[in-house]
Amino acid sequence: MGLIPVAVLVSGNGSNLQALIDSEARGENPDGRLSLVIASKPGVYALERAAQAHIPSLVLDKSALAAPAFEARLLAALAEAKIGLVVLAGFLHILSADFIRQVNAPIINIHPALLPAFGGQGYYGLKVHEAVLAAGVAVTGATVHVVNEIPDGGRILRQKEVPVLSGDTPESLQQRVMAEGEWLILPAAVAELCRTLRQQTEALNHALS
Ligand code: GRF
Repeated sequence: MGLIPVAVLVSGNGSNLQALIDSEARGENPDGRLSLVIASKPGVYALERAAQAHIPSLVLDKSALAAPAFEARLLAALAEAKIGLVVLAGFLHILSADFIRQVNAPIINIHPALLPAFGGQGYYGLKVHEAVLAAGVAVTGATVHVVNEIPDGGRILRQKEVPVLSGDTPESLQQRVMAEGEWLILPAAVAELCRTLRQQTEALNHALS
């Protein structure tokens, strides 16, 4: 049975994509293969990272497409590449319930907080860390969760705590949450899911052959 083709959806710097690329290069995901990067806007650095890793990429410019057309093209691209796992990594688009129903693959997301805290509509990027600092909590972290129609609402797959340090700015906290949280648990979750998906596919093929 072949490797599980993985698509990574991005909208910006792509540091989480880079963590996945580096993890794969270290042989940490023997059951999957980064096969497609889709950016929701042109010119983002994540596309450069994909090119350097020789991963095919596609730009679906969200600002130039109505939501239904954007999602229709997204669906078509994922189906054409026979994607088995979809990873949202800094992807700034809330996928519709209809889209999620039609995608024939699990979708996971990395969120820079310990969901359900500091999650949901409006909590993304630096806004999350600003809220964490304003709340005065001593511990924050990162979460990998299943994507459903509720923003940041799906089943939690992995979490990692990261300390908030005195003197932290939103930027310094974001950097620590990425480096000590996101970049560790996202590759681990992807590898684990690819292993499960591959075993399930093999079992199904065996049962049907
Ligand atoms: C990160 O904070 C990530 O948690 C959030 O988007 C931000 C940028 O991610 N999902 P990346 O550097 O583009 O992967």
